[in-house]
Amino acid sequence: MPRHHTPPTLDVLLPTGHTGAVRLAPREDESELVALFADAAVRPDARVHVRANMVSTLDGAATGPDRRSGSINDEADHRVFTALRALADVVLIGAGTARTERYEPLRTPDALQSTRRAHGRTDELELALVTASGAVPEVLLDAARPPLVLTVSACPSLELLRSRIGPHRVLVAGDDQVDLPTALDLLADRGLVHVLTEGGPRLLSDLLAADLVDELCLTWTPLVVGGPAPRATRTDDWFEPVHHARPRHLLHADGTLLGRWVIDRLTP
Ligand SMILES: NC(=O)c1ccc[n+]([C@@H]2O[C@H](COP(=O)([O-])OP(=O)(O)OC[C@H]3O[C@@H](n4cnc5c(N)ncnc54)[C@H](OP(=O)(O)O)[C@@H]3O)[C@@H](O)[C@H]2O)c1
Repeated sequence: MPRHHTPPTLDVLLPTGHTGAVRLAPREDESELVALFADAAVRPDARVHVRANMVSTLDGAATGPDRRSGSINDEADHRVFTALRALADVVLIGAGTARTERYEPLRTPDALQSTRRAHGRTDELELALVTASGAVPEVLLDAARPPLVLTVSACPSLELLRSRIGPHRVLVAGDDQVDLPTALDLLADRGLVHVLTEGGPRLLSDLLAADLVDELCLTWTPLVVGGPAPRATRTDDWFEPVHHARPRHLLHADGTLLGRWVIDRLTP
């Protein structure tokens, strides 16, 4: 971290009463909460805006003892999780997350559709999966609207995937590993420019390593779990250089802190 000659001023964000903070009561259409995140714009030199949303315990765990995030998230996290989906054209996940978290086809709550439209989003929120193995959960393959599958030419089940979900929904981006800049280009070609990645740690790390993340929304739930849990990132190597982030806001509810950070891109 950079060292300041004089220590930085500390802004007191909590307790809420201290700063006269705005309080956001839950609303069916979540228009106020969504508006807090709506200023994210695609950079002039980029085709997509990539926002990541993850949850962590206070000791940095990305899962609880059940090896899923369901045991560490809470209602406040769920509110923001849902609001962020309302601003997305596509939710991008690693296949590991689809398998472990048992993703099902996405459905936008009716009450949020008007909010999506107010922000220029179409009614359909796409799900896109990144996989080299092609091991996509059956529940997604069988869906009336299957996910987009971003995969590689070496994927052993490439033809099977094409026949199950249609060739137009299987997008090849790379030989052995999914080349993420190409994958995002393929999404942009389909008009999917507001990308929300919900992880997991491997995919988020790969996106960060490729300098493709514009924003990180990170919830800390007031839990300390210990254990051999993964962190929000999972990579053998340090990021070189490390990424710096600037806070946009910090929300709080019942001990849960929900931060929104803009990542300083390495390639300005
Ligand atoms: N705390 C949170 O917010 C949060 C969010 C999401 C997940 N999680 C947790 O994280 C754990 C899963 O971690 P994870 O790191 O395995 O998740 P992940 O990144 O979703 O899944 C890894 C898998 O995604 C595919 N993948 C990711 N990047 C790829 C690339 N560049 N090229 C090709 N394939 C790529 C590969 O799938 P194939 O194996 O099919 O090739 C890889 O094995 C679970 O326990 C889950 O509950 C936590």
